[in-house]
Parts: sequence; structure tokens; C-alpha cells
Amino acid sequence: MFKRIKQFYFGLTAEITKIDHDFLNVYLSPEERELFYNMDAATQFHSIRVAKTAQQLMTRYPAVDKNLLLRVALLHDIGKPAGHLTTILRSLIVLINHFSPNFAHKLARPGRGNRWNNLRHGLYIQYNHPSIGGELAKKAGVDSQVVTLIEDHHRLAKPEDSIELTILRKADNLN
Ligand SMILES: [Fe+2]
Repeated sequence: MFKRIKQFYFGLTAEITKIDHDFLNVYLSPEERELFYNMDAATQFHSIRVAKTAQQLMTRYPAVDKNLLLRVALLHDIGKPAGHLTTILRSLIVLINHFSPNFAHKLARPGRGNRWNNLRHGLYIQYNHPSIGGELAKKAGVDSQVVTLIEDHHRLAKPEDSIELTILRKADNLN
């Protein structure tokens, strides 16, 4: 819950600097940058923080594919494009999901409309953003390794998970 409050705070104060834009230019292709900038500002900011944390964590793992990890850190949440989740909706989703995850899962349904439908749609996006992101990445011609990591970033950990997925999960949880 504290992590969510922190995300909410950063969401309100998010500011992407010139250094961040330069960082994106180094690791992402023009098509990937378009996917990145299609996310709302708060999710862009979260993704940059995840990439920076991943950069710190990866120093302990010499075998990691650094380029792959940083690209996916920046792109892991592209399944949450701007316009689907407002800050208020995001906060409501966090609360419903925290107090009654089963109810929240039952409510999730795609299709925006009135406030109630927007809430249900927001829950749907929240629960399905890994597969939605994977599809968007595939359509944009993103490398299949990145696509798989986007699709897997919220599934339960398995012993055979790649080091890149393990670090991505850790970095995501810390932000
Ligand atoms: Fe995610």
C-alpha cells in the first residue's frame, strides 16, 4: 500500500528531465519511444524510475543483458496508454484492489462510458496491461524478447525465470 501511495505522489509531481529524454534516446528505437510517450506522464515517470533502479541492481549480475533489461524496464507498462486511467481512477483501483481483490477482479470489464464503466475499464486495463502491452509491442515490431518480458512482468516467479525478468520484477516492486 505504501508503494501505491508513493506512486500516487510521484504521479502528481512527475517531471521528465532532459537527462531522462537523452536516456530514452540511447536505449529505445523511434518506434519504442512512441510506445513510451503514449503512456501518461505518471507511468512514464514510474518506468524511468524502474529503469534507474534496474541499472543499480544489475551491477550485481555480470551475466545480465543490460540493453534488454533497460529497454524492457522503460517499456514494461506500455499496456497502460494515456487516457485509460486518470489519477482519481488509479487511486480508486488501488483501494478496491487492496480491500477486496476478488470483487475488483469480478468488476473488471473493458469499455469506457460513464464513471462506473470507466472504473470497470480501469480495472480491466490494470489486470490485463501485460498482455495488452505485449500486443502493442508486437504490432510495433519490437524485439520478441522484450515482448515476452512485458507479457510476463506480473506473473508469479518461477525458478527458470531469466535474470532480466527477475531484476525487472524487483525494480518494479521497489517503485
Ligand atoms: Fe505493470
